[in-house]
Amino acid sequence: MPVDDLWIGELAGMVVAGHNVLVVNPDGEIRAFEDRCPHLSSPLSEGTLDGPLLTCSTHLWEFDCLTGAGINPATCGLLPYPVRVEDGTIQVGFGPAPSGVTEDQ
Ligand code: FES
Repeated sequence: MPVDDLWIGELAGMVVAGHNVLVVNPDGEIRAFEDRCPHLSSPLSEGTLDGPLLTCSTHLWEFDCLTGAGINPATCGLLPYPVRVEDGTIQVGFGPAPSGVTEDQ
């Protein structure tokens, strides 16, 4: 995905190598997570982004998209993917998740 297609304050969902990926641009830095709510698996790309606050559209669970941490409830979290911008393109990797991040609650 061209980085110019994801402006500050925008989010998007895409499929990369068979993975459903959410990319967000809350502040000029791109972050990527699994596009799956840890509650009941709704696509988070159908949610809303207000600054760092990502809200699932289904039951309004909230996440900090700077870190992937759950806000409401705080006991959950998003699965992050490594992301970089190279030659104007957003690239996502699929290495092991960092420790301390829980996927399902
Ligand atoms: S599926 Fe996201 S809050 Fe329920």
